[in-house]
Amino acid sequence: MNTSNEELHELADITKCTFSFVDSMVLKCAVELRIADIIRSHGKSITLSQIASSIDSPSVNLGNLKRVMRMLVRMKIFTTQKLDTETHKSSDDVLYGLTPFSSMLVHDVDITLAPFVLMENYPMMAIPWHYLSDVVKEGGSGFKKANGVELFEMARKDPELNKIFNNAMRCITKIFFKGLFSTNNRDVFNGVNSVVDVGGGMGQFIGEIVN
Ligand SMILES: C[S@@+](CC[C@H](N)C(=O)[O-])C[C@H]1O[C@@H](n2cnc3c(N)ncnc32)[C@H](O)[C@@H]1O
Repeated sequence: MNTSNEELHELADITKCTFSFVDSMVLKCAVELRIADIIRSHGKSITLSQIASSIDSPSVNLGNLKRVMRMLVRMKIFTTQKLDTETHKSSDDVLYGLTPFSSMLVHDVDITLAPFVLMENYPMMAIPWHYLSDVVKEGGSGFKKANGVELFEMARKDPELNKIFNNAMRCITKIFFKGLFSTNNRDVFNGVNSVVDVGGGMGQFIGEIVN
């Protein structure tokens, strides 16, 4: 490979790394717009116009929604299926469907990772990553450098952060618990008289054990 070709490859690789944050933002956008919920509520794959008409806004920008959906499909979060445009007279040319990934982004169900996506991409939680080089140079926490106080002090002061954080912890804990203690092996707690849940948050884990 000659030097200019190598440089083109490096440009492609570095560009991909540089914009990898866009995946997080597109994922957050899908959760905020409740796209998985919308498709699930139809019980089958649906068109862009159907998604748009269920988004909580009177002025959805179809072009921007289509770009976001294209990214989500590339990320394998939704599927696409070509529509027969002969029989469909609208401008919609594909149907969007759920995947196992997007099934985990539905809100208000028992097993979901939507609260985790919202917490990790909440600005107060995401901006500390911009302080990573300072954390390397000086030590300390990125959260404090970005927000002025440590995470749990901020959670005590800020009810919205507290709620977002605890909801995320709860949803992860439910999945951990289900994975670790399936109905077949719940008897690992037989004969245990006392359990201490250190750092138990809202008590989701201990609650699962007790139930
Ligand atoms: C990984 S989470 C565990 C979540 C828990 N299993 C649940 O289901 O909610 C760790 C928990 O420890 C608590 N924690 C850890 N360090 C803390 C600190 N410095 N101050 C207050 N709470 C802290 C937080 O409540 C946090 O939710």
